Amino acid sequence: MERFFSGSGINKNKAMVEHLQRYGVINSKKVAQVMETVDRALFVPDGNPPYVDSPMQIGYNATISAPHMHATCLELLQENLQPGMHALDVGSGTGYLTACFALMVGPQGCAVGVEHIPELVASSIKNIEKSAAAPLLKEGSLKLHAGDGRLGWPECAPYDAIHVGAAAPEIPQPLIDQLKPGGRMVIPVGNIFQDLKVVEQEPGRLHQYPQRDFCPLCSTDKSGGSVAQLLSLHGLNLKTCSGHIVLML
Ligand SMILES: C[S@@+](CC[C@H](N)C(=O)[O-])C[C@H]1O[C@@H](n2cnc3c(N)ncnc32)[C@H](O)[C@@H]1O
Repeated sequence: MERFFSGSGINKNKAMVEHLQRYGVINSKKVAQVMETVDRALFVPDGNPPYVDSPMQIGYNATISAPHMHATCLELLQENLQPGMHALDVGSGTGYLTACFALMVGPQGCAVGVEHIPELVASSIKNIEKSAAAPLLKEGSLKLHAGDGRLGWPECAPYDAIHVGAAAPEIPQPLIDQLKPGGRMVIPVGNIFQDLKVVEQEPGRLHQYPQRDFCPLCSTDKSGGSVAQLLSLHGLNLKTCSGHIVLML
């Protein structure tokens, strides 16, 4: 997304959604509605401007994705987030998108977030408890788990919608296996440069969307082979999130 889009003066959740609508990122009423209902400020750490269109640090070397990225993924998945459907959010981070999924699939559906940093799972639960999705968490149709999201979450499979919030060198097979026929997955694929791919569970159908950069889908034991991990072994820290690449010394 171009830099002019940043909306740096925006200080209300509704204004952020209207801004995304104005720039054609949000086109559906359902996506606008859910993003208006889930206040992003509840998910962004204090001291950050919550409605600016930029990823933000949430600790543990992770970020909350930019609003345009959340909106894009919701737009791409909305047909597979109908009431009663099952949705999986891999790399759920702050829990923002998992909360949106849960409100869209409703109490008869199932929304599962899997995040590999347990501290983020704990804080995402606190965030959601303050949000409009709190009753769904209480009733159990919204669940957050600590684990390696590359393995999916078989318990609630198969899924109508799978979102992966961190880049993978290739699409993990367990996620393909857990996608329902007719289901749709949105996943950034690649190492240094990534394509946001839309994968539909129909033989031979794979759609590719414009390139963006994402945080790497990685392993907590640092045995993964991503560039970020390689650099971190040498005391360097590379973050590649939503088009922002920062090398931290
Ligand atoms: C760009 S952040 C997006 C977070 C979330 N979508 C949000 O906006 O709050 C990517 C997240 O993926 C998580 N992650 C990376 N590798 C993972 C893995 N193997 N399993 C589960 N989560 C992972 C990171 O810890 C991080 O929270």
